[in-house]
Amino acid sequence: MAAPTPRPRRDTMGAAATRAANTFNQRITLRILRYDAETGGKPEYREYTVDADPTDRVLDALNTVKWYQDGTLTYRRSCAHGICGSDAMRINGVNRLACKVLIRDVGNHVTIEPLMGFRVLKDLVVDMEPFFAQYRSVLPFLVSDAAVPPDGRERIQSVDDRERFDDTTKCILCAACTTSCPSFWADENFVGPAAIVNAHRFIFDSRDDAADERLEILNDREGVWRCRTIFNCTEACPREIRITKAIGEVKKAILKGSARAEPIRHVTGAHAHG
Ligand code: SF4
Ligand code: FES
Repeated sequence: MAAPTPRPRRDTMGAAATRAANTFNQRITLRILRYDAETGGKPEYREYTVDADPTDRVLDALNTVKWYQDGTLTYRRSCAHGICGSDAMRINGVNRLACKVLIRDVGNHVTIEPLMGFRVLKDLVVDMEPFFAQYRSVLPFLVSDAAVPPDGRERIQSVDDRERFDDTTKCILCAACTTSCPSFWADENFVGPAAIVNAHRFIFDSRDDAADERLEILNDREGVWRCRTIFNCTEACPREIRITKAIGEVKKAILKGSARAEPIRHVTGAHAHG
């Protein structure tokens, strides 16, 4: 009987060596602002040193601290892929999602702080309830006078009508915009860019019947007019929503007294700023 043909062996040692060469070749210091509202005291920075791969995300480094060095470190995260919006925080002074920022882009010394303008509950976890209260105040859901769609089955919309509010459908409610807004820092009752973005999403939806009501809500002294067109919100948004442009469109609709007459403008070419 012929001897069995030896199966080719996988070069596991070589692969491991290659991985070792590529992995953990960056030693970074995380300087994290720690605070616990339950025990009080003063917020203070604590430093942690971790080994990381340049293509790790800041969230990976935080996980390394929490899982292997200090289990008391507290922060929110869920999807780890820029979808749930739960890990917005200040990274080197800029509002970012920790799961979307690569270690190689932040350098070897990273300062991490909670979002500004909300009460800190613990470490990087802030009280988001005022943010969601502002969000709820603009009726962020479809309101239709017709209980049953005209054809009894669907609320049909043209491609152009759907395109009208496409940008503002992308919001993941991370609060990076609102907490980077100087108008919000100065006045916590300002409805904030995130709520306006979510109002915009329905105000310009041809199937919705509550645009006038939302415009009235936003025509308040704590509504859109608190926006001073500073653009911080647009720069902070991890979804690249043109927030300042959306706020401008809501302001214009208030001045015209209607959202419906707004002509559809197509943005072509490079990503328009605004
Ligand atoms: S508009 Fe952008 S920054 Fe603001 S909450 Fe939505 S996703 Fe976050
Ligand atoms: S963990 Fe979900 S967006 Fe970062």
